[in-house]
Amino acid sequence: MLTERMNERLTQVGPGTPMGTLLRRYWYPVAALSELKANPTKAVRLLGEDLVLYRDRSGTLGLLEASCAHRRVHLLYGIPEDNGLRCPYHGWLYDSTGQCLEMPAEAPESTFPSRVQIKAYPVEALGGLVFAYLGPAPVPLLPQWDVFVRGNVLRDVGMAIVPCNWLQIMENSLDPVHTEHLHRYFTHYVMERLGKGKDDPKYWRFAPEVRPHVKIGFDVFEHGIIKRRVLKGDTEEDANWKHGHPIVFPNMLHDRGGGGFQIRVPVDDTHTLYLWYICHAGKPGEDVPAQADEDIPTYRVPMPRLDEDGNPVWSLMDNNSGQDNMAWVTQGPISPRWLERLGESDKGIILYRRLLEEQIRVVEDGGDPMNTFRDPEANVAIDLPSEGRSGDQSWRLDLQRAGGVGTGSSGKYSVINREVAARTGAPVPAE
Ligand code: FES
Ligand SMILES: [Fe+2]
Repeated sequence: MLTERMNERLTQVGPGTPMGTLLRRYWYPVAALSELKANPTKAVRLLGEDLVLYRDRSGTLGLLEASCAHRRVHLLYGIPEDNGLRCPYHGWLYDSTGQCLEMPAEAPESTFPSRVQIKAYPVEALGGLVFAYLGPAPVPLLPQWDVFVRGNVLRDVGMAIVPCNWLQIMENSLDPVHTEHLHRYFTHYVMERLGKGKDDPKYWRFAPEVRPHVKIGFDVFEHGIIKRRVLKGDTEEDANWKHGHPIVFPNMLHDRGGGGFQIRVPVDDTHTLYLWYICHAGKPGEDVPAQADEDIPTYRVPMPRLDEDGNPVWSLMDNNSGQDNMAWVTQGPISPRWLERLGESDKGIILYRRLLEEQIRVVEDGGDPMNTFRDPEANVAIDLPSEGRSGDQSWRLDLQRAGGVGTGSSGKYSVINREVAARTGAPVPAE
């Protein structure tokens, strides 16, 4: 249980708040390059600030405050030029530092443009995503996690704006036992609601048998927390315990088997941009088709909703993402943690809250928090431990060929999964 004051301290992300100050020390993905290829501007809200991301005609990326300094028109409608973004209303032109370069209606010799600058933030592209940094100088290096730089994979990116605070989403990742209930026992109930019987061959792929947790454990390591579990029938020699599953501080879950990240981007106190960034590998020794970073497809993951009678739309509940989304959103816009009753199985959540508090203090004391990279030599294909190392879980395409499109993570909606299904005739779960 946390006090109301502690709950505020861990959940408020605006400028000047303790958590907002810590979170501003990290880079966040705000768009896929393919989105800017389709439309060169994108409205972005990040850490409570309204911004516009753009790519100009020379290819330069910029992130500006959303409103034009002149008379506040939204720059989402801005016109990309060779050297910046031009406001649609009276044509003021801004470069990627926010400096105004031109004011067409003022006299050519006017010095007014040089005296106008709007807020602008650094952006960098990596692995098909555009990352933004809203914190203080010196700007840390954008971490080169292996997932973003590895070759010979096909990537796609699921996206959703989840209407709740980022912290309750992260806490889900420190809560291994929910998988046994929410993603297993509850799935059997969802199958019942959907009228699927246990004699349906697809039933057991969507709703595998419930395997209780015998043991859970957590270790802080240099990049975050490793969670471990032993399921009934397994031992500590199995990968789930021996290698574990890393949570990358402060806001990412390494996807099972090391095939990607689930990234939680704090939009404001009550909204989170969720990215399912997935690398689909081929079989060992197999080359997958080449894919340019700006062609990595995106797809939308739907939020849980009710039908006109106020009943859950159950077809959205037959996959991990739908189930997790439901859990996060129904905890409320900001979960009232002072009403919680935590048990022994919540020890990972308690550890993560302590780590957040510790890192808030590191920043308050003038230090660099966990996962700050400043040495380029240490920032090369940063690898993470993964339970996939000892098994074959990374080879998603191969698994899909064998068994059809998975329902784990956002598999049900994944563009690449659906392409594979179309090629192989593998079954795809209904929307
Ligand atoms: S409002 Fe942008 S140029 Fe006038
Ligand atoms: Fe989950």
